[in-house]
Amino acid sequence: MARFSDEFIAAIKERNDIEAVISPYVDLRSRGRIMKGLCPFHNEKTPSFTVYLDTQSYYCFGCGAGGDIISFTMAMENLDYADAVTSLAQRSGLPLPEDGYDDGMARARRRMLEANREAARFYYKMLYENEGKTGLNYFLSRGLTHDTIRRFGLGFAPDRWDALTRHMRSLGYRDDELLSADLARKTKNGSIIDMFRNRVIFPIIDLRGSVIAFGGRVLDDSKPKYLNTSDTLVYKKSQGVFALNLAKRGTDRTLILCEGYMDVIAYHQAGFTNAVAGLGTAFTQEQAKLLSRYADEIILSYDGDEAGQKATKRTMGILEKTPVRIRVAKMTGGKDPDEIIKKFGKERMRAILSGAVNDIEFDLAGIKAGIDTSDSAGKVEYLNKAAEVLASYNDPISRDVYASKLSEELGVSKDAILAQVKRRKTAEKRKENREIYNSARSAAMGGQNSPNPDRKKNLRAAIAEETLISTLLSNPDFYKEIKDKLTKEDFATPFNYRLYSLIAKRIEDCRAVELSYFAGELTPQEMGYLAMLESKRSKLGNTKKECLDCVNVLKEERRIREQGDPSSMSDEQFLNLFKKN
Ligand code: CTP
Ligand code: MN
Repeated sequence: MARFSDEFIAAIKERNDIEAVISPYVDLRSRGRIMKGLCPFHNEKTPSFTVYLDTQSYYCFGCGAGGDIISFTMAMENLDYADAVTSLAQRSGLPLPEDGYDDGMARARRRMLEANREAARFYYKMLYENEGKTGLNYFLSRGLTHDTIRRFGLGFAPDRWDALTRHMRSLGYRDDELLSADLARKTKNGSIIDMFRNRVIFPIIDLRGSVIAFGGRVLDDSKPKYLNTSDTLVYKKSQGVFALNLAKRGTDRTLILCEGYMDVIAYHQAGFTNAVAGLGTAFTQEQAKLLSRYADEIILSYDGDEAGQKATKRTMGILEKTPVRIRVAKMTGGKDPDEIIKKFGKERMRAILSGAVNDIEFDLAGIKAGIDTSDSAGKVEYLNKAAEVLASYNDPISRDVYASKLSEELGVSKDAILAQVKRRKTAEKRKENREIYNSARSAAMGGQNSPNPDRKKNLRAAIAEETLISTLLSNPDFYKEIKDKLTKEDFATPFNYRLYSLIAKRIEDCRAVELSYFAGELTPQEMGYLAMLESKRSKLGNTKKECLDCVNVLKEERRIREQGDPSSMSDEQFLNLFKKN
């Protein structure tokens, strides 16, 4: 694997202060040289995401995410190592090295985008050919105009095995390029066939106007209803938003977020050109981040059925972590916006949108729907649940406003309501702290998904290994004292040995040991673990003696591992030690 040079990485670090990189995503509060904020990688209400200015690193005590500016960018923007480095370089005006692999990558990407564009052109053209008639009729029967079809670049994939493949080959594209773009796939017997066949096609276009992926819908009720391009060099499903390229042109900074392609298209055709949809997956954090760059307000316009309401709740939870205001439109008279617009017209839709309630109202209405509040028992139940809802909102003004409303509605004093909200909040906080504590321990240290699964069984040794690693990170010169004393076998956990070797290798090459230099070799979870070790170092003595003590512990633990600990052995095992084979 080609690599960026240390000098290049160092230059990037110099130009991108960690606070500047993280603060667009996290509201950081300073506590001296340490900053804290709400973790962008998991849902939390009390800050456990910690940024260390001195080491230019971060670590979340809630979920164990950690690392430096590169791993942060990787996780936040969903980029691989090379792309994250490239993006940071570009952001800080640093020219990229001439012959890095990033160049090859950029070339491959450009070529894939061209292939996608050609494919989109082909699908569109097919709509107006004889063999695409069924596709065109499908769109027309769903009420789309030719103008809409053109605006969205819709298309049709013919009912043949290799219509697109042949066309692309004739333009000079190789089969492997079609495969990696997910435009074609390989059958069991090795032949290459089109990914989309006999489907109407919805191209997904990014903000720069590039075609990055496709969705394809069947013309009847067969399954699967939609096929979507999977992740490729140019497409990350978790970041894709349909029609944002068109919607971002609006000026009022409100977006309508729908579930499906057809809803978006129906909205646009009816004049609501600020509709978008997150595609093919449950709505993600990254999509939320992207939308919040273009919107101050998002109106959720999901299907009216139970699944749609569940998805609404879930999406609200994700959007609540961004600064956008949230409102929820209630679908009445039809299952989704597409149907409502078709049945009742755009004025009805406009009324629904302007009647969209905010998130608290949505939650309160959801609770009230299931309770009969005409008697006292119902009132109490409703109040308790409503207090729980209000407690989950951080904004004291909304809490106050809705406490007033509830007070009027139910004839209960506002103070009593606020007192109940406060009790809920305290209970919630306690629970949350407990959860943070537990998940931090298990995520970073011994949990199932911990990068170091052997840690738990070898706790004493693992802690010594970690202390050694933390100390070496800040005192690389100690390495010469211990290097001849330690071997691979002295390590109880292979993962810590790997970290140790990576660090040792750099020290031996007389290179700096900083978190950044490891981002290319370690996964984000592994970086989190290393960042956690680094964050410990201020608590350590950082002395040679401490290092040597750790070495002794490792030796001792190794002896126990290899021979068994006499004190914990069964009699039989103990006797076996003395047996001659
Ligand atoms: N979807 C998907 N794969 C499926 C089903 C749905 O990717 N098998 C995605 C599509 O992006 C779709 C959205 O989920 O647009 C919503 O699904 P659904 O409500 O079933 O589709 P509609 O967009 O309403 O499609 P239509 O009106 O054509 O039935
Ligand atoms: Mn629909």
